[in-house]
Amino acid sequence: MSFKSRLVTVPSLKFFAKHYYPFITRISGDDLVFMNWGYEEDPPMTLPLEGSDELNRFPIQLYHRTATQVDLKGKKVLEVSCGHGGGASYLVRTLGPASYTGLDLNSAGLDSCRKRHQLPGLDFVQGNAENLPFPDQSFDAVINIEASHLYPEFPRFLAEVARVLRPGGHFLYADIRRGDSVAKWNEDLGNAPMRLMSQKVINEEVARAVQKNVPQLLKVMSRVAPAFYVDKLYGGIGRELSNGKISYRMFCFANESSGVGVASS
Ligand SMILES: C[S@@+](CC[C@H](N)C(=O)[O-])C[C@H]1O[C@@H](n2cnc3c(N)ncnc32)[C@H](O)[C@@H]1O
Repeated sequence: MSFKSRLVTVPSLKFFAKHYYPFITRISGDDLVFMNWGYEEDPPMTLPLEGSDELNRFPIQLYHRTATQVDLKGKKVLEVSCGHGGGASYLVRTLGPASYTGLDLNSAGLDSCRKRHQLPGLDFVQGNAENLPFPDQSFDAVINIEASHLYPEFPRFLAEVARVLRPGGHFLYADIRRGDSVAKWNEDLGNAPMRLMSQKVINEEVARAVQKNVPQLLKVMSRVAPAFYVDKLYGGIGRELSNGKISYRMFCFANESSGVGVASS
């Protein structure tokens, strides 16, 4: 097992989720509405965007591709780990869901979501991905972007997604794993109480976005880290995506269970 993988223990993940993201919220001001690495195709997607969204084109494109695997118009949508709410705001404005609930562990981030993203049908709730505070079968779709690698008990999260989805509902999902945790990821996904409809390795698309997004990242991160460090960090991520040390994938699952009785303990 690599040194990096040995650092990823349950207590370290809990510590990270509890302290790191509230710290990021405190220092990022209003600049950081997305916290994912982004997505870009070749040829470029040229997704039409409002002027104010243009700065966040690549993180938005990751949300767009993941969420549009099914039609969300008129649907009740839950996003688990909505971060600073940029994806929630974009999807509500463009895809016309009936309602959209963004959930995150980080209450400071949610306070800023409530101030920044005031849209009809959009609300934000504090909670834990492994113990979702919603009744069985309450959503048509669950979205989760670049966050599940932070959950100490990933199978509990999958069981919770299946529980809150109505039968026939969809789980629209994108995330990363490092080399030696990919096998466990595959095993957990294979045991998920939902049917896999599609999956795609998106390393190239994410590496392309990271490379194109460095100027924007430098602007946001320069408050907390010197430019050469940010450059090195994202250069490293791009290399690990290109040489396969990190696996980034996008999935669509359908919930075929009755939903009732798949409760978390
Ligand atoms: C890398 S950020 C991604 C945020 C957002 N999806 C985006 O793409 O901008 C990961 C998010 O997961 C949240 N998170 C970590 N552990 C969590 C948990 N157990 N339950 C809910 N959210 C959690 C963090 O607070 C953070 O907002």
